[in-house]
Order: sequence, then C-alpha cells, then structure tokens
Amino acid sequence: MRMYDIISHKRDGGKLTAAQIECFIEGYVSGRIPDYQASALLMAMYIRGLDNEETAFLTRAMAESGETANLDALGTVADKHSTGGVADTTTLIAIPLACACGLKVAKMSGRGLGHTGGTVDKLEAIPGMKTALDMDEFFAQIERIGVAVMAQTLHLCPADRLLYSLRDVTATVDSIPLIASSIMSKKLASGAHIIVLDVKTGNGAFMTQQDEAFKLAQAMVETGRSAGRKTAAIISDMSQPLGLAVGNALEVGEAIDVLSGRVKGDLLTVSLALASQMLILAEIAKDEVHAQQMLLFAIESGQALAKLAALIDAQGGDSLVTKDTSLLPKARIFEKVKAQKDGYLSAVNCRGLGEAAGLLGAGRIRKDDIVDPAVGFIVKKRIGDPVMTGETLIELHANDELRLKQAVHHIEKCLTIEQKAEKPTLIYNTVC
Ligand code: URA
Ligand code: CA
Repeated sequence: MRMYDIISHKRDGGKLTAAQIECFIEGYVSGRIPDYQASALLMAMYIRGLDNEETAFLTRAMAESGETANLDALGTVADKHSTGGVADTTTLIAIPLACACGLKVAKMSGRGLGHTGGTVDKLEAIPGMKTALDMDEFFAQIERIGVAVMAQTLHLCPADRLLYSLRDVTATVDSIPLIASSIMSKKLASGAHIIVLDVKTGNGAFMTQQDEAFKLAQAMVETGRSAGRKTAAIISDMSQPLGLAVGNALEVGEAIDVLSGRVKGDLLTVSLALASQMLILAEIAKDEVHAQQMLLFAIESGQALAKLAALIDAQGGDSLVTKDTSLLPKARIFEKVKAQKDGYLSAVNCRGLGEAAGLLGAGRIRKDDIVDPAVGFIVKKRIGDPVMTGETLIELHANDELRLKQAVHHIEKCLTIEQKAEKPTLIYNTVC
C-alpha cells in the first residue's frame, strides 16, 4: 500500500478503508511516512470530510498507537471529558459526585493550554498532590477507593500527539471528524466503559457555533458507541466563565464550596448534568430525576466532599483543604475592576478572560511556562445581572504588579454593559 495512493483517493473524495487508515497511522508514528505526506492527507480529510465509519477507523487506529488501559477487571468504569473552557471545574465536582453514588471513575487529564484551564494544573494547586501515576497505580487506586485522576502520559495515543502538532501548523485543526477522533482516541485508550462528554459552545469554546458543537457531539457519541463504549454528550454554554473562580487554587476552592453545598449556580448545574448522565449510562439511576436526587443527597450527606478528600489523600495531597480552603495557595496583591456605568452586564469576551488569567500566570502561553497556582480572579457578575457604577465586576488575585496591570487592562475590554441584557441558555442539548 502506497501513501501516495491513499492521499489521491481521499483527495478525489473516495472513502478510506480500515487498512488504509491503519497504514497511515502506523507509518506516521513509526517515522516511515514523512510530515509532508501526512499533511497532504490531513488536508484532504479536512476538505473532503470523513464519514462515521472512517472516523471510527481513524479513532481506533490512533487509540491503538500506544499504551492502553484495560479496566475490565474493575467492572463498569466511567470517564468524563470537556472540550475545554474557562472556569470549567466540572471534573473536580462531577467525578467525586458520581463516585459517591457508587460508580467507579477513571480520569486521565491534561494541562491547560492557551486560554483554557486543565484539571492537572488545578489538582497540582493542592499542596502535595501528585498526578503522575503509572497505569498500575491508576488501576490499584480505582480498585481501592473508586476513583483516580492521572496526568495523561506520553505513551497514550502518540499518533494523536504527533498529528495534533501537525494539524496545528497546517490549518487542519477545526475539522469535526479530526477533532472527534482526536478526543475519542484518548478516551478509548484510557479504558473507561462509560464516556460522558461536555461539548462547549460560545466565544470561550473551541466550537464557537452551537450547530457545530452539536455536530461534534453527535460525531463523538457515534464514535464511542461504535467502539463499544456507552457514550453521551451535553452541549453547554461557554459565552462566560462557567464558575465564578478563574485560576487553579481559586477553582479548587470553588469546587470544594460546591461539593460542600455552600455554593450553587451554573457550575453545579452543569456538574449535576454530567454526573447524571454517568449514573444513567451505568444504570445506577433510572432517569435524570432519580440521578439528580441521588447526587443532591451525596452533597447534603457530605459523601461527595468525603470522596474528593479520599482522592486527594490517595494521591499524596493535603485533604484538609476540603475542610479549610484557606490552606490553598494564596496570592499577595488584590485589585478590582469596577463598572464604569449603570446597566446590565450584557456580554463577556470569555476567551479574553481566559487570556487574562494567563497574563496573571494562571496558564501557559508556551508549553513549558510555569504556572502560578495562586493567581486568578473571581467573577462577581454574570451576564444578565444589573450593575451600578462603581460596583465590582471582577476581583483579581496576583503576585506580580506588572502582570496585574496587564491583566486589568485586558479584562476592562472584555466586559460589556448595556441597557438591557439576556441570560444565555446554560445547557442547549443532550445527545444520548
Ligand atoms: N482537543 C483535542 O484533544 N483534540 C482536538 O483535535 C481538539 C481539541
Ligand atoms: Ca494526606
């Protein structure tokens, strides 16, 4: 089989076979197929598209390009995944919640990149917390306490890592089948039997348009199912930060507040929706109403927070943070962005706010930048809220005067106040 023929077949609108796709993936990972041929095929895939079957072939080939976790001996294990956003701390809430209701959860997570945060960075804001588990530790911990969160290793889906870098520089990232196979290959390789996806839409998301997010959700659910995994997705809003806290330690603090029942709001609502889908697919709950009852009881009884404490303890962290969030890293300098006029908060540049967190040091511009766990900000107003001149819109937590100044300047341009405003829809759709 020649790579040249695979490229010309896709270029002309043909359908690729499993053998052709495996030949491409295996050849590219082994170094036999050069970047220029892989780039040409990616562009042909981008322009011609892939049908569900081709997407499933590509996903499976990428999943099998490296190490895979086999969790079958643990019984039913669930995973969740978000396509990424700002103040999107649902993992730290939905996972202990579902686990407290009797479901085992195995999560491999990444770090934040660009304007979005990452679960690994958030967990590492907890003193002592370790996320560099190996597969044996991952398995043993799920067996022992029902839940583990590990940083994705270099051995998982090497094909996706290589292809993603290539897509990044060849204008082939934003293709629905390529994104679906990229995300789902990592989910298949991490071994969970149940996969619940949170596809974000809005200006802080990867898919800014709702209809595109819906198509991506459908493609991923279909891909998961064809690989024999129970899969569901919700499509949720990212036109403003999901939680009120942006920044690693601040987001951990907010997750603890939500799990202890002190804080409600959109972050709780989306976390409950995700955990509900996990319980329904696992047949622990019979429907959404039943699932929500179980989950709310797990919060009220303290079981969900206790599960987070057990997870932190098992991975070397100081679980006292779940009782006293003031033990989390704290910033030294505080500043406020205030409203310049009366009206309603009508729009937010959510991506811009994510970038502002990066300017403070909460995220990375480059892969090897060092993250400051303490810095970030608290959003005081949500879209649709009335505001008065001089009222605080955002409260910043910083450790560096220059960075603070840049972030304030950036944030001031991200908030729009008008004479009327509408609250955005929070959950647009569920694909199950
Ligand atoms: N996230 C991924 O993991 N892959 C993509 O292609 C896009 C977003
Ligand atoms: Ca401990």
